[in-house]
Amino acid sequence: MRVPFLISLRTGPAGTFTVRLPRVVSFGYGCRGEVSQIAAEYGSRVCFVTGKRSLKASGALNELVEAAREAGLEVTVFNEVEAEPLVSTVDVVRDTLLTEDCEVVIPVGGGSVIDVGKAAAALVDSELSTADHLAGADMPDDGLPIIAVPTTAGTGAEVTPNAVLRDPKAGVKASLRGEHLLPVAAIVDPQLTMGAPPQVTAYSGLDAFIQALEAYTSLGASPFTNALALEAIVRTGYALRVVYVDPKSWAGRESMALGSLLAGIALASARLGLVHGLAHPIGMQYHLPHGLACALLLPHVVEFNLPACTDKYTACARALGVGEGPGDLLAWTRELLPQLGIETTLKDQGLREEDFAKIIPVTLESGSTKHNPREVGEEDVAALLRHIIDPESPLPAPKEDEADGTRQ
Ligand SMILES: [Fe+2]
Repeated sequence: MRVPFLISLRTGPAGTFTVRLPRVVSFGYGCRGEVSQIAAEYGSRVCFVTGKRSLKASGALNELVEAAREAGLEVTVFNEVEAEPLVSTVDVVRDTLLTEDCEVVIPVGGGSVIDVGKAAAALVDSELSTADHLAGADMPDDGLPIIAVPTTAGTGAEVTPNAVLRDPKAGVKASLRGEHLLPVAAIVDPQLTMGAPPQVTAYSGLDAFIQALEAYTSLGASPFTNALALEAIVRTGYALRVVYVDPKSWAGRESMALGSLLAGIALASARLGLVHGLAHPIGMQYHLPHGLACALLLPHVVEFNLPACTDKYTACARALGVGEGPGDLLAWTRELLPQLGIETTLKDQGLREEDFAKIIPVTLESGSTKHNPREVGEEDVAALLRHIIDPESPLPAPKEDEADGTRQ
């Protein structure tokens, strides 16, 4: 007899799991005031890493730099990080860190900025290029301490030991992973997300929601990550539309920032799923921002995974208050995108069968795909992509052991 799902979810075997966290995780309006004090514990020469425009324009960077100088720190600023960052940008930041003899790296920005800051700090002692490490060369044994300060509610990069980078020469967008990529401190101040424009809010917020959902249903999920991920699903799921419609909503911004942080902690341990496995090669192929690529894949992957995670999708639908079954979660994800101004499709963005040969091998190699709750083979990805292009084209039928969520 099957145990009722809520009981089985709460009392089933806990398994074994390891959680690695920053030494300090600070959250709340105004907590950015702690940055200088924490930095001073690690050294007196700090490098702020940030994006080209937004932070300078909002005044937040000046405020943080001034506070650091007042605390007696020597400050270097690198403010040239682009969206979907390149390995060459990391190389430039590494040179800056060496030239200025920096002791602490403080990325202040969205996921791209934090990823560049983390990668540069972790590779500062390496003789090899960042591209070599992205291609698989061993990571150095040491790095500089990182204090990550996110300004979007999205990637959770402030609490994860990886950095997503692009190498156009190799045609690769992939994750650099290593223990020295994990920040020593994550300072999450929702006020810094207030200035994010609606599209950035929607894309980064959808990434946070999807990361929470994929961490929750991942094969690597544990009771620890489930608790965080479900809270993150509810917070981001409710608040996404609030902050899109009312960008100055303090409660909405707070909920998104907290949900994003919790999702980041969950995914750092549980890993992700097929949305992220597909989003990297598809984003690279069609030049889509990460959050948009994930968003456009979401309803299709939920539909594909439905047979393998009926219990958890039901729990999500109930927690979000959108229904009583897994199909209700699917319907809700379909309705969500247009509510956030996303009317396009992957077909509109150029997805076509001729490109499958480039997309599928990268998808199957991805650690995210390997943690997907439904087993994914070459034919499954092809069938899913065909279904995304043409909804009449059928999804693969679930194998016997996938039909009741047991693989999860
Ligand atoms: Fe993501």
